[in-house]
Amino acid sequence: MISEKMKDLVNNNSVIRQMFEEGQIMAEKYGKDKVYDFSLGNPNVPAPERVKETAISLLENEDPLALHSYMNNAGYPAVRKKIADSINRKFGTSFDESNIMMTVGAAAGLNCALKAILNDGDEVLTFAPFFVEYKNYVANYGGILHAIEPDTSTFQPDLAAFEERISSRTKAVIINSPNNPTGVIYSEDTIKGIASVLEKKQKEFGIEIYLISDEPYRELVYNGDDVPYVTKYYDKTIVCYSFSKTLSLPGERIGYLVVPKEADDTNELFTAITIANRVLGCVNAPSLFQKVVAECLDEKADIDFYKENRDILYKALKEAGFTCIEPQGAFYLFVKSPVEDEKEFVAEAKKEHILVVPGSSFAGPGYVRISYCVSRETIVNSLEGFRRLAEKYGLAGL
Ligand SMILES: Cc1ncc(COP(=O)(O)O)c(C=O)c1O
Repeated sequence: MISEKMKDLVNNNSVIRQMFEEGQIMAEKYGKDKVYDFSLGNPNVPAPERVKETAISLLENEDPLALHSYMNNAGYPAVRKKIADSINRKFGTSFDESNIMMTVGAAAGLNCALKAILNDGDEVLTFAPFFVEYKNYVANYGGILHAIEPDTSTFQPDLAAFEERISSRTKAVIINSPNNPTGVIYSEDTIKGIASVLEKKQKEFGIEIYLISDEPYRELVYNGDDVPYVTKYYDKTIVCYSFSKTLSLPGERIGYLVVPKEADDTNELFTAITIANRVLGCVNAPSLFQKVVAECLDEKADIDFYKENRDILYKALKEAGFTCIEPQGAFYLFVKSPVEDEKEFVAEAKKEHILVVPGSSFAGPGYVRISYCVSRETIVNSLEGFRRLAEKYGLAGL
C-alpha cells in the first residue's frame, strides 16, 4: 500500500503530463500533423554540435574508469572552477569552485537547496503564476508554499503584497526569471525591490530569509533584455541553474547551484547542500555531462528558432483578438482565457486539436499556457484553429 502523501500526488498527477499523454493518443487517432500540442516545455531544437563532439571526444580519449567513477558530491572541482570563471566573466562576480555544486538539473538543485534550509512548518513564498512543482518540492521537506497574487498588467511581482505576506516563519522565497509560464523577465527594479523588502523583514523579525533564484531559462532571452544576476543584489541568494533548456539537454539532467560565500560565511550552507545531494540519492551530477557542459559554457541552442515561433504566434493571437503580454524570454505564452473558467476554453481548444495547459496548474486561473517550443509547422498549422476559437468567443481582432 502506498503512503497517504503519495496517494495525494497520484490522485493529482500533473495536468501537463496528462495532456502530453492525451496528445500522443490524439496524434495516433488523427495523425501527428493534425494535432497541435503546446503542452510541454520540451526543447525542440537540437543541442549545439559542440555538445556531441565533446561527448565523443571524452568517451574516446579519457580513461573510462576515471570518467565514469563516483566523485565528490559537489562534482568535479575543475568543472566547477570553469563554471565559476564563466559566471564571473559574464556578470562581474567573484566565485570559485567552492561556490558551485553540480546538480541533477534544476529540479534536483531546488530540492537540495530546500532540504538544506527548511524545518517543518517553514514558509516559502513565491509569485504566482509559478512552476507547479515548487509546491511539491517545498512539501518534500515539511515546508508550506504560499503564492503572492500577480499584477496581471505586467506579471512583475507585486512588492506591496509580498512585503505584507512575509512572516516570522518565512524561510525562503523562490523567484523564476525569465518566467515559466509568463515569459516575463523580472526587471532590475523588481530584483532591487525584492532585496530591499527581504533586508527589511530580516531585521524586523530577526530571521534569515534565503532568495532562491531558479534560472533554467536565463539564456533564452529574445530582445537583448538583461536578466539581473541576483547574487549582486541580495547576499542570501542561492542560484539554481540548468542546462536543460539552454543546451537542449533536459534528459541528461545537468545543472548547478551557486552558493555565494555572502549567503553563509561559515560554509555550513554549502556543506549542507552537498550532503543533501548525497542523502536525496542523487549522489553527484552525471559525470560525463559535467565534463561536456564545462566545454560548452558559451554555447546556446538555436534560440532564434524559438524567437520566430514566438513572433508568429504572438502576432497571430493578438490579431485574432486574444490578450497576452509579449514574452521576453523562456518559450511560453500566457494567454488570457476568453471565458472565466479557462478549463472550458482548454476543452474548446481540444476540439480544434489544440492542446494548451490551464493556468490554474500554475496558480494563474483565467489564463492558459502555450509552449511554443514546437515545430514551425505546428505553429503555422494551428493558427486557423486559434482564429476559429477567437470567432467562437466573439473576440475582436486587431
Ligand atoms: C521554472 C522551472 N524550474 C525548474 C525546472 C526543472 O528543470 P530541470 O530540467 O533542469 O530539472 C523547469 C522545467 O521545466 C522549470 O520550468
